[in-house]
Amino acid sequence: FTKQNVEEVLAVASRMKELVAKRGGCDVLNHRIMANVFLEPSTRTASSFNAAFCRLGGKVITIQEGTSSTKKGETLQDTMRCVECYSDVLVLRHPETGAAKLAAKYVKKPLINAGDGAGEHPSQALLDMFTIFNELGHLDDIVVTMVGDLKYGRTVHSLAHLLSFYNVRLNYVAPASLQMPESVVQDMESRGIKQHKSEQLTDAILAETDVLYVTRIQQERFASQEEYLKYKGVYVIDKATVMKGKESMRVMHPLPRVGEIMEDVDELPQAAFFREMENGMYTRMAIIALVTGTAN
Ligand code: NCD
Repeated sequence: FTKQNVEEVLAVASRMKELVAKRGGCDVLNHRIMANVFLEPSTRTASSFNAAFCRLGGKVITIQEGTSSTKKGETLQDTMRCVECYSDVLVLRHPETGAAKLAAKYVKKPLINAGDGAGEHPSQALLDMFTIFNELGHLDDIVVTMVGDLKYGRTVHSLAHLLSFYNVRLNYVAPASLQMPESVVQDMESRGIKQHKSEQLTDAILAETDVLYVTRIQQERFASQEEYLKYKGVYVIDKATVMKGKESMRVMHPLPRVGEIMEDVDELPQAAFFREMENGMYTRMAIIALVTGTAN
């Protein structure tokens, strides 16, 4: 991805938002089929990809872990080769890092990574960029504070990458053992991005933050339940926390939240996470339109 690619997605996503508001959708993908292959749980990503394809006029087939031949031991490449025969666009979520890259070797049709283990979540990062732009009006000169499980949380890996095209500063607030992976830190450094690690979400960090990007401790990636319980509830954002930040600060979260953001935050103008969730559909409409050459 280049900065130009990002800006193209954001511009098309804005048009998609208008299209949905005015007419609900269009029929550029009439008779086209998308395969939504979700081999790991999902609510927002799966349903927004599904809705996005339908709003562009196409139809969707869904493959899920519990009810597909993966359960019988079929390899990922065979599953993907299969759905490629029936569809025009493929979307894959998988519990293993690198799964989308592997699958891409075996299929020729456009394949969209909808999250690969603790690796990447590029469509989430694009919808997060769309959200930041819509909430703040700009992407340059901002301080983004990422909080929570930065090691296993794939959304922050992809988001950091896209933010690095802009003049941003990144704070990483996480327990030492769940800090941002060194590979991402080095990548940011090589792009001249200023980064700061902390175990505490201090008042000083809050005061300078434009986007407070909260993440869930990724229970499913821990070796044991005990290990997970050590970190559960380590950062909880409530109304009082938000009030310490700038009035223009925005609180984001890829969701699902499991206690990291209290419900007393929900009604504040700073709470952008539900708008972020809605933006997922417009951004995925844009991604689909761009990979199918139907964006114009
Ligand atoms: C995220 C994911 O699956 O990585 N959710 C999402 O796609 N909106 C974040 C998470 O599960 O914590």
